[in-house]
Formats: sequence, structure tokens, C-alpha cells
Amino acid sequence: MSLPTPAPQSRVVVTGASSGIGVALAEGFARRGHSLILVARREDRLRELAARLHTRYNVAAEVRAIDLSDRLRRAELAEELAVSDIAALCNNAGFASYGPLAEADPAREAQQVELNAVAVHDLTRAVLPGMIQRGTGAILITGSTAGNQPGPNNATYAATKAFANTLAESLHSELAGTGVSATLLAPGPVRTEYAEAAQVPNLDRLVPDALSVSAEQAAEAAITGMIAGRRRVVPGAFAKVQTFGGQHSPRWLLGPLLRTVYRRVN
Ligand SMILES: NC(=O)c1ccc[n+]([C@@H]2O[C@H](COP(=O)([O-])OP(=O)(O)OC[C@H]3O[C@@H](n4cnc5c(N)ncnc54)[C@H](OP(=O)(O)O)[C@@H]3O)[C@@H](O)[C@H]2O)c1
Repeated sequence: MSLPTPAPQSRVVVTGASSGIGVALAEGFARRGHSLILVARREDRLRELAARLHTRYNVAAEVRAIDLSDRLRRAELAEELAVSDIAALCNNAGFASYGPLAEADPAREAQQVELNAVAVHDLTRAVLPGMIQRGTGAILITGSTAGNQPGPNNATYAATKAFANTLAESLHSELAGTGVSATLLAPGPVRTEYAEAAQVPNLDRLVPDALSVSAEQAAEAAITGMIAGRRRVVPGAFAKVQTFGGQHSPRWLLGPLLRTVYRRVN
């Protein structure tokens, strides 16, 4: 099994641990006895979660309050992780933007690329040599169903998630036989602070609750997938339909169709 049994010195790293799927991933690993490194910008939330996990599950939970889109701060974390005993890395932090690319805030789009794609690449590269040397370790990359298809009016997000999806699935095969696994978590709609962070309050209303999964469901599917060494985890029936449509529908049909859908997001 690529995910090692919990040990006092080893850590599971969860990025985006201040909200949504990241909180649920941290809780799921703590419940299984793993000590953690929690990463996001909002330090107060990370500290609150760390204290709760320590009290409830008697695990160590360290906090790294870092803006992962900042290359210098990220490099400091990568250096630390490269020399630490990392049992698992969950590359989960991310956000989306919606609207025409030409009208988007260039700084925010660049931040999205840094966070959703380059940071995932950097942190994964940091932990991989140590994991391979130890012959054990598990990588999770949170991509999206959005990464399976074109995303008109959601272009930067769709492109970064295509990167995340492909990186995870490439590593899954590349790492075969090393004792290290790579798993893609590719959710459809999950009820979190995602819509708020994307600054599109009507997003949650476009997708009925019945088609969404909870952060806990997504995280639990991800962790059991990591334990089983699965290539791709797609939580929920709607996301599975989205995945099939995104991967098998002709692009000439998908592009205009999704343009109509995403134009309703505002
Ligand atoms: N919710 C969905 O429908 C959905 C669907 C498919 C994929 N996903 C993906 O799932 C992942 C988790 O999202 P979520 O749904 O749980 O959303 P969320 O509740 O908004 O959580 C996003 C997390 O990312 C962190 N983050 C954002 N910018 C950051 C930065 N610059 N540096 C460090 N951390 C940063 C946030 O923490 P701080 O703000 O404290 O930094 C927060 O902990 C994302 O990669 C998202 O793209 C979500």
C-alpha cells in the first residue's frame, strides 16, 4: 500500500485546508491517525482546525499560513517538504474565475495559474524524490471535471484543471512499481466556499443540491481512492455523467454548449 501507516514523525500535507474539501481531507486523515501539515492563507482557520484535530484525534497538526501563489513563500515550503518524511501530499488548494478572459483581472488570472497548476507541480516535485527513496507515499491532486472539457468563460480554470488532471494521471502510470501512488480527485459540483471565492454568488443556484456532493463525501472518496492506489476518483453520479460527457462528446458540440451554460454564471 502506497499510503504508509501513521508514524509519529511522518506528516500528511493538505493544501487548501482552511475550507471545504481541504478541511474534510485533513479530518479524514486525522481520523485515521495521521499527523498533518495544514496549508492555506487564513491562519486563524488553520489554527482552529489544528487544535480541533489534535484534541479529537490526538495527532500533531502543524500550520503553514502561506500564499501558495507566491513563488518565494512556496519555495520555502517546498524546501521544507523535500527534507521531511511526507506520507502523503494532497494538492488541493485552488480557485476559479468566470467571465471573458479579455475582461478578467490579469493579476487574478496569473494567481490562478500559479496556484492551480504551477504550485501543484512544484510541491509534487519537492516530495517525490524522498517518497521514491523511501519506497512509499501517496500524492493526491484535486483537479476537476472542468479539466476534461473546454471552459468558455471559465478558460483559465478549465486549462489549469486540465493540467492538474493530466499531471495526476501521468504520474499514476509513471510511478508504477515505486511504492508511490498518484491519484486524481476530479469532482463535479461540491458545496464549499468555491462559488464565493470565484465571486459568482449564483453558481450554487445553477446546480441543484441533489446533483452536488458534500466536501466530506468528496474527501472520503479521495482518501479511500488513495489507499487503494486508484488513478482517478470522481465523487457522485452527476460528476460521473459530466466526466463521460466531457471525455466522449465531440469538441465542436461541447464548446458552444458549455459557452451557453457558462454565460449564465455571473
Ligand atoms: N467546489 C467545487 O464545486 C469543486 C469542483 C471541482 C473541483 N474543485 C476543486 O477543489 C479544490 C478545493 O476547493 P473547495 O471546493 O474546497 O473550495 P474552497 O472552500 O473555496 O477552498 C479553497 C481552499 O484553497 C485555499 N486557497 C485559495 N487560494 C490560496 C492561495 N493563494 N494560497 C493557499 N491556499 C489558497 C483556500 O484557503 P485560503 O483562502 O485561506 O488561502 C481554501 O482553503 C480546489 O482545487 C477546487 O478547484 C472544487
